[in-house]
Amino acid sequence: MTTQLDERARDILRANDRGGYTVPNGRVYPFQWNWDSAFVALGFATFDQDRAWREVETLFEAQWPDGFVPHIVFWKDDAGYFPGPAVWGTGRSPLTSGITQPPVASSVVRSLWLRAERSATFRPRLEQLFPKLLAWHRWFAEVRDPLGKGVVIAVHPWETGRDNSPEWDAPSQVIDTSRVGEYKRRDTTHLDQSMRPTKIEYDRYLALVQAGRDMGWDQRRIAREHPFRVADVGMSMMLLRANRDLAALADDLGRKAEAEELRGYVKRAEAGLDYLWDDSIGAYCSRDSINGRFSGLVTSASFLSFYAGLKHDKHDSSTLQHFERISKRVRYVMPSLDPDDPGFDSIRYWRGPVWAVVNYMIGTGLSEAGHSGPAQRVRSDTRALMEGAGLYESYCPVSGRGSGGGDFSWTSAIWLHWARSG
Ligand code: DGY
Repeated sequence: MTTQLDERARDILRANDRGGYTVPNGRVYPFQWNWDSAFVALGFATFDQDRAWREVETLFEAQWPDGFVPHIVFWKDDAGYFPGPAVWGTGRSPLTSGITQPPVASSVVRSLWLRAERSATFRPRLEQLFPKLLAWHRWFAEVRDPLGKGVVIAVHPWETGRDNSPEWDAPSQVIDTSRVGEYKRRDTTHLDQSMRPTKIEYDRYLALVQAGRDMGWDQRRIAREHPFRVADVGMSMMLLRANRDLAALADDLGRKAEAEELRGYVKRAEAGLDYLWDDSIGAYCSRDSINGRFSGLVTSASFLSFYAGLKHDKHDSSTLQHFERISKRVRYVMPSLDPDDPGFDSIRYWRGPVWAVVNYMIGTGLSEAGHSGPAQRVRSDTRALMEGAGLYESYCPVSGRGSGGGDFSWTSAIWLHWARSG
């Protein structure tokens, strides 16, 4: 089974390779996506290290001069996706979207570097990538951390990667959709509507794209004035981890000043991420930065505190209690939403399904923090899902059935890099 799935996963990555970048799924997502690409590199690294580094290098070819890295790079147009480059209207070359995505690239590059055993062959490539990664991290610190706490403010649900998480329901209420007009979605022609965001959610996504375009994609202005400005627990935890990993890379490259700067960001976040601790539910969750309200929801992102390297006895034990409770409620952890929440929907995108990349981060963090039982559960469930259903976009935590697109690139990558040995 393992060997067969290994072959299948490699075939999927090769088939979705468009020459230097990999599409998440040929039909549903026909471009280069930011965090997808980063995770995909982990998969390539298991059989083609050169190609793995290339994936990240291609992504950073689309970096804007201020350090921002877009969530989609439209290397070639494709009528099968909406909203395409003309709707975004960022006027960049290459054509890109105008929002970013979870900053996992530095953590991935560290993993590639360690797999290459810090070899002299890859050092020049690391030297080239390092300043670009650092520029992106600085951009987060300067533009998206207005509280100065290491807490990332997301200005679009798509930025969080967890597009329709119920964490965004309340903060999205204020988005004015009256100017959105008619449009034709393409995702629901490729996939079952019951697995995708609803019409009102899509209207809001588009209203935010229009608002960004109206502001000329001035990122500083968007960060101050956008109607949607949410302190995202997922991106904040991933950025903290990425800052640690980039600091370690700076050490390896002998870049003392940069290592110190990055450790400064780490310290700031270690103290500041308490802002996302909701004592009333005993878990980390996102907060609307406009009115300070917590989402009050336990999601898969709540379990990323271990991956971030946060250590806090009381918070850790409360988070682990949630883990125990949820792991008894569903056959496969970690559902993207607490199954005890009334909004839980086992097949609808980020309202219930299990996602391999999130499991990878949760499992890695739990294992590093010494919680081997839960860590093992996450990893073996991930393996069982992939062996049982194939390499899907996501999975139903109750039945184990695949949901969303099939032959998915980042799921294949996580199989090769991590889940296969679970
Ligand atoms: C989509 O189109 O559903 C993507 O998640 C947006 O990034």
